[in-house]
Amino acid sequence: MLLLLKNGRVIDPSRGLDAIADVVIEKGRVVRVGAGAAGSYGTERDVRVIDCTGKWILPGMVDIHTHMREPGYEYKEDIRSGTRAAAIGGFTTICAMPNTNPVNDNRAITEMMVAKAREVGVVRFHPIGAVTRKLDGRELTEMADMRDGGCVAVSDDGKCVLHSGVMRRALEYAGTFDVPVIQHAEDHHLTEGAQMHEGAISTRLGLKGWPRVAEDHIVARDLMLTEMTRARYHVAHISSKGAVAYVREAKSRGIRATAEVTPHHLTLTDESVLGYQTACKVNPPLREAEDRDALIAALADGTIDCIATDHAPHAPSEKDAEFSEAPNGMIGLETALPLMLELVTSGKVKLSRMVEALTVAPARIVGLPVGTLAEGALADAIVVDPDVEWTVESFASKSQNSPFTGRKVKGRVVATIVDGTLVFER
Ligand code: DOR
Ligand code: ZN
Repeated sequence: MLLLLKNGRVIDPSRGLDAIADVVIEKGRVVRVGAGAAGSYGTERDVRVIDCTGKWILPGMVDIHTHMREPGYEYKEDIRSGTRAAAIGGFTTICAMPNTNPVNDNRAITEMMVAKAREVGVVRFHPIGAVTRKLDGRELTEMADMRDGGCVAVSDDGKCVLHSGVMRRALEYAGTFDVPVIQHAEDHHLTEGAQMHEGAISTRLGLKGWPRVAEDHIVARDLMLTEMTRARYHVAHISSKGAVAYVREAKSRGIRATAEVTPHHLTLTDESVLGYQTACKVNPPLREAEDRDALIAALADGTIDCIATDHAPHAPSEKDAEFSEAPNGMIGLETALPLMLELVTSGKVKLSRMVEALTVAPARIVGLPVGTLAEGALADAIVVDPDVEWTVESFASKSQNSPFTGRKVKGRVVATIVDGTLVFER
């Protein structure tokens, strides 16, 4: 079976390509990319042609921060529904955080997740293992074992690795096999009982605030530990202008740090919480316009390496609660691309940088050979109609906790190809 994506605008930042071309896919691989490349392939064989005139052809997007909720919380999401939502949103590779039940803190759980994804997954799926057992912040997991079982990174996401000694040893251990430690940077002593970002809005709403410094000083400390251990460190869902400044400074000195930012921290502020909108309750919290603007600038200049959704499904019964009772998180897989195209349309981030931040940049952080349409690469691609306007309505995800419902957006995934197979078509 041959798949021909014909006459689209191929944008592949992994090799600086932005041109009208065909993409020829065979046996799970990209075999040729170029103007008229499909023309030399006859119709004598089993051929599927997709006319991409007026459309974009991009490498399949990569999300290194999702919560698939399996095992343990399948009423919110599971590997089948979550990977299907990913395919619809244009993500052909996703990584899943370990705050499941039981926690993914050992190889048996890792292997079970990998096996389940092989069976029911719609896109490529890679677990992230816990840094500490039961996410308790004290005892390190057997990271080498989990890596051998399929984990591509380690993180206690949802919780911070607060103890400096534990963080040092985590970096040293993970560093011996070059796996990144992904930190949820939050000094829990400074955020006890916090409901949202600490500022004028939290005062107005009478909600306890989560100050920026709780994020900033953990990032600063971790960067020092990363410098000392020469390990690899990655900041999850960076949200404050101060943390961005620390990462920028560390990178300028060659420290091996990377960072991701979510679409919601790039497009919303704490004002969205007004009216006690539980859909906007998220950790780290939505911050102020000056933080959002610093995040956008850092994404544009490469200080922030990539976009990650932090897709965090929660059931209606959990989110339709008093603000203080509602869990943190929002879904993101199905809205990430059009939201990020808003920043391209407004001229704040160049299209090629944005595509890079959604494809090859995150792939490199977790060491996966995806996010590229280079000849010979794994054939993961998406076709995007950049002109179609649509309204965000319902989601394929089992959970619907998005503050973007009702938003008018532009640009939509019309086909998703994983390993040379069309897994979604609109
Ligand atoms: O908003 C969040 N939700 N932030 C996290 O760090 C964890 C996540 C979750 O698991 O729901
Ligand atoms: Zn998360």
